[in-house]
Amino acid sequence: MAKTVVFPDSEPLKDALSAGTQGKKNGSGKRPDYRAQALRLRPQRQALPIYSARSAIIKSITENPTVVIVGETGSGKTTQIPQYLLESGITAGGKTAIAVTQPRRVAATSIAKRVAEEVGTPLGGRVGYTIRFEDCSSDATQLRFCTDGLLLREILADPLLRRYSVVVLDEAHERTLRTDILLGMLKDIQRERTRVAQLNRDAEQTSEEPKGYAPDHRSRGTHVKFDEPEEDEKNDDAVAPVMDEVHGDVSGLDDLHIVVMSATLDAERFSEYFDKAPILYVAGRQFPVTTYYTSEPQSDYLDAAHLATLQIHTDTPSDSGDVLVFLSGQEDIENVERLLLDSAANLPKGVPNLLPCPIFAALPQAQQSRVFDPAPEFTRKVILATNIAETSLTIPGIRHVIDSGVHKVRGFDPRVGESLLVEPISKSSARQRTGRAGREAAGFCYRLYTEADYAQLPEDSIPEIKRCQLSMVVLQLKASGVKDVMKFDFMDRPSRKALKHALLELYALDALDDTGELTPLGKWMAEFPLEPTYAKVIYASAAAGCTREAIDIVSLLSVDSLFYVPADKREESNAAQMAFRSADGDHLTYLNLLRAFNKVNGDSVWCQEHFVNRRNVRHVLDVRQQLNRLCARLGMDIERSCGTDLTSVLRCFLAGFFHNCAMLQPDGTYRSLNGSQVVNIHPASSLFGKKTPAIFYDQLVFTNKLHARAVSAVDSAWIAQAAPKLYGRLQSNSSAYTS
Ligand code: CDP
Ligand code: MG
Repeated sequence: MAKTVVFPDSEPLKDALSAGTQGKKNGSGKRPDYRAQALRLRPQRQALPIYSARSAIIKSITENPTVVIVGETGSGKTTQIPQYLLESGITAGGKTAIAVTQPRRVAATSIAKRVAEEVGTPLGGRVGYTIRFEDCSSDATQLRFCTDGLLLREILADPLLRRYSVVVLDEAHERTLRTDILLGMLKDIQRERTRVAQLNRDAEQTSEEPKGYAPDHRSRGTHVKFDEPEEDEKNDDAVAPVMDEVHGDVSGLDDLHIVVMSATLDAERFSEYFDKAPILYVAGRQFPVTTYYTSEPQSDYLDAAHLATLQIHTDTPSDSGDVLVFLSGQEDIENVERLLLDSAANLPKGVPNLLPCPIFAALPQAQQSRVFDPAPEFTRKVILATNIAETSLTIPGIRHVIDSGVHKVRGFDPRVGESLLVEPISKSSARQRTGRAGREAAGFCYRLYTEADYAQLPEDSIPEIKRCQLSMVVLQLKASGVKDVMKFDFMDRPSRKALKHALLELYALDALDDTGELTPLGKWMAEFPLEPTYAKVIYASAAAGCTREAIDIVSLLSVDSLFYVPADKREESNAAQMAFRSADGDHLTYLNLLRAFNKVNGDSVWCQEHFVNRRNVRHVLDVRQQLNRLCARLGMDIERSCGTDLTSVLRCFLAGFFHNCAMLQPDGTYRSLNGSQVVNIHPASSLFGKKTPAIFYDQLVFTNKLHARAVSAVDSAWIAQAAPKLYGRLQSNSSAYTS
């Protein structure tokens, strides 16, 4: 019997849709002539709701230190406002730049690509992007899209962000941990820049011969120009104003403008935080969307998403628009992708083709842009996305949205550390997801949950800063010169307990000394765009002589999954994985996999036969290359290998991961060392079902219970040696019970 997902009242769907027209599609593969391309896109730009407000927006940004801009998704905030700023001459002919932050890598790269096309310049030229482990920008870049985490790192090197005249904090409503920290730091930087700029202006006035010091054309809104090619300003020989040794050369340094952009109406809080900054509301365009709920709760939302997609595809004409499915993460996406590929291969004759297009961070650029390309003839695209498509990316052509009702969030409990949770979304997210169906014409949203369940959802999500581990940001705050993190001006203050926990963890990692000051090791660790635990592992690998292996494994842990485990081929996939298995657990198993992968040069048939996720392993290689470069710059011998003595690598991991340890109990359960919580070895782990006296793990994931992922067996004496301050009392395994 064919399974279906029941959406009551969806009968009129067919009729309504048969009258529909195909959504407008844009963004094509070839880019022969940048200028021609830009000219072609111009009418689209001018048709955006935000276009009529451009003068008002520029005026407001140039006249105020901070402006909050609220506009519905798709109104043109992200792609247009930075361009208006560029056109206004605020970058002083390229002497300064504009930074636009995004919470997600994929958004930063794909938006930069689009904006470069609209501006008519090669990507990495006037418009570029920089994300962790990838830099596509140059000295010529005046408009830089980056992740919020990356800008935070930039502050370490340039505490006043001297190269920028404007920082645009996009997607601020998402309230990611890093956006929140940036808010606080930018507020500080802005204050300091205003002070320095004032000193500069004073110096300029009192100077007898202010020769060559260009009038300040970046501030106060007098130089707003549009759609004119920018003139190259002469390099002004600024009269050296008052110098501040701490910040390096600050001559000519001007005020920093901050633009906070949000897709939801919670703007007042941002405005309050920035001393009552003005709020600009940009009108959006939204067509009605009919929403359906399931009549019964769905036990398996992946299955339900797959079936609902097929139902839409077979019940409605394919020119009635593409489908956008919201799922929790890469694993979900890849599972549904495989289900759909199977079904797509077996569609009845006459039914159009079905083309699943996943989008998530570890996906290579080329495949990411497929999402924006028009579907081939007689084909319907099914975009499989995380909440990246909720507000940060607008994908043209969508008329049907399927909402799984879940997302993946970070959760933190001092007793177990940080874990990843798949949780119900908020009402506000559900509404955003629904809205994506009505961008170009009336649309349809299928919620894979009941109306009663919807009523139970929280109104908004909790800001990440209140629910995740803070050690990385505390380390960054310390490294940027924030002495007392307890007194930092947070927009939403994390609990004292969480902050204290982070300080203690950094102390245990030897990143802070007992007065709370950053140690030289702490400073070194802050160089890494990694959680401090991983940086510590890499540090420890130098003395242990296994830097090669440590970097390899840290890179391997940067992706969600290295193997495919198709639901119907679990046995075969497990058997294939046996080839790489190490009795010591997952870390060394992954290393074996990487070595085997390199031996066959990532051959795709080999990957298929071994159920290896080729896409992800290639991403691992990118990360590894970047880490190699960083470590080499820091003077490490990156080729230093421990050969076959791999226990030294595991011991290095304990130097960072002593908090993530659990001991086998007489009743057969594992309990975490730092909080006595029961943790279960993940079924995908090579240690699943094994009883080994002591383990450490990379991550905890909570589904129905707490699961440890990426688990390895260790000797408890090593744990004691790695963290004598905490676990010095632990005995070697030889005296513990084994099974
Ligand atoms: O930031 P906001 O949600 O306000 O809008 P945006 O991301 O600037 O998008 C403005 C418009 O550009 C949307 O209508 C998108 O359809 C279009 N766009 C596109 O066609 N291709 C892209 N790669 C990005 C945006
Ligand atoms: Mg946007």
